[in-house]
Amino acid sequence: MTTRAGLACRNDQRAGRYSAKIPTPYCNEGVREPCCLSPFQKGGRGDFVSHEDGVERHDLLFKEAHVTKTKTYRIVVLPGDGIGPEIVEAALDVLETVQAVAGGFSLACEFHRAGAGCYRDTGEAITPEALEAFRNADATLKGPVGLPDVRKPDGTEAGLLGGILRVGFDLYANVRPIRLYPNAATPLAGCEPDGIDYVIVRENTEGLYLSRGLGLVTPHAATDSLLLTAHGCERIARFAFQTALKKQRGAPEDGRKRVTLVDKSNVLRSFAFFRRIFLKVAEEFPEVATECIYVDAAAAALVSHPQHFQVIVTENLFGDILSDLGGATIGGLGMCPSANIGERRAYFEPIHGSAPDIAGRRLANPVSQIMSAAMMLKYLGESKAAAMLEGALWRVYAQRRIPFKAGGAVEGGASIVAKAVKLALRKGNKVQAA
Ligand code: NAD
Ligand code: IPM
Ligand code: MN
Repeated sequence: MTTRAGLACRNDQRAGRYSAKIPTPYCNEGVREPCCLSPFQKGGRGDFVSHEDGVERHDLLFKEAHVTKTKTYRIVVLPGDGIGPEIVEAALDVLETVQAVAGGFSLACEFHRAGAGCYRDTGEAITPEALEAFRNADATLKGPVGLPDVRKPDGTEAGLLGGILRVGFDLYANVRPIRLYPNAATPLAGCEPDGIDYVIVRENTEGLYLSRGLGLVTPHAATDSLLLTAHGCERIARFAFQTALKKQRGAPEDGRKRVTLVDKSNVLRSFAFFRRIFLKVAEEFPEVATECIYVDAAAAALVSHPQHFQVIVTENLFGDILSDLGGATIGGLGMCPSANIGERRAYFEPIHGSAPDIAGRRLANPVSQIMSAAMMLKYLGESKAAAMLEGALWRVYAQRRIPFKAGGAVEGGASIVAKAVKLALRKGNKVQAA
């Protein structure tokens, strides 16, 4: 292993390509090499702590860490396609400062290729090395992937990772917080900061998506079928109630902890089945208000009355659509992070895609990726660092430090935002120390 300017790389040849300032493999133009281990400050594989504490990773999502000495976490980074590398670089830049300011932990980042570019070059959406690293990582930070013109013969997109990572590793809970920050470019009139603050818990492994790659097509008709299992419905319902209990604030409207099931059980048997299971699980959580809404009415309510919601649980496709709808109400998709969580593994990514229309144009808002990194820190048990990062982001918005364009793009792009957040982190730390 070669160490250079405080960075350690697994691949000697590539070490020389790193810049000391930005420890990413894509900091030199045109270089997007996989397989480099670049701890921000120190370490390498030998420094990794093992997590043999018997605590399930998803239980750590909102828990305080009991940190007594510096821990090094093994993080896999998948920069992705389109704006992915721009916003991932901004998130890593910010994480480096969080690590310095919060102390007590370090992140050893290992970069790999995945996505549509990878598919175009290798015929696979993710390399076998990346998959192995994902399997062994403490957590993965993923940028958006996909390019609309990179498609399979069946007409669907190649280079997407949901089937491989979400289904393949049984990451059944897709957690998508929708929270309105001060001065964010919301199209809704009269909304206060935190007047929208709910979490969509999207079932991530079944529903209509179980048909991914399996639908039947004839010259005259095509079908994809939706499948919900009792096990899948029960565990996602329970995850949603636990999320409601762990979330500090209740619904903005009345402070109540409330889980809303969004379904289409007026028409489809599969959703009537989900509703029965949901209501049975709800009996275990009498302190949480429970309700069921049809998806069409839910779409309207998320625009007209978003303050009513605290936690929404729903089927895979509905969760996909409603989370983008929610994103539009809080200033655009660039405001929206997410976590994909299973029993033993998790990865963190924006809810949006690779935004080919703005890639390389210095317009991308990296807040979705930075907040995904904050969710990753919480999951790892570094709650103090996560809170510092969220606080810094909040202040940057409150002080109008981000030059938004209508719709949520940022004039100057991801690096402008990273710079503002890093400054806020350092200033915040001085205030705390004083
Ligand atoms: P998209 O989410 O990439 O973009 C939709 C709109 O939102 C675009 O106008 C875009 O410019 C804007 N936008 C998105 N993120 C932004 C940000 N951070 N800052 C500012 N504006 C932002 O959706 P799309 O165009 O339908 O999809 C593009 C590609 O991404 C497709 O290949 C799709 O399959 C893929 N995709 C991937 C993921 C993922 O990796 N998780 C998610 C959604 C879509
Ligand atoms: C998302 C995306 C993915 C999904 C696509 C790219 C497969 O839209 O993460 O929201 O539909 O789940
Ligand atoms: Mn989506």
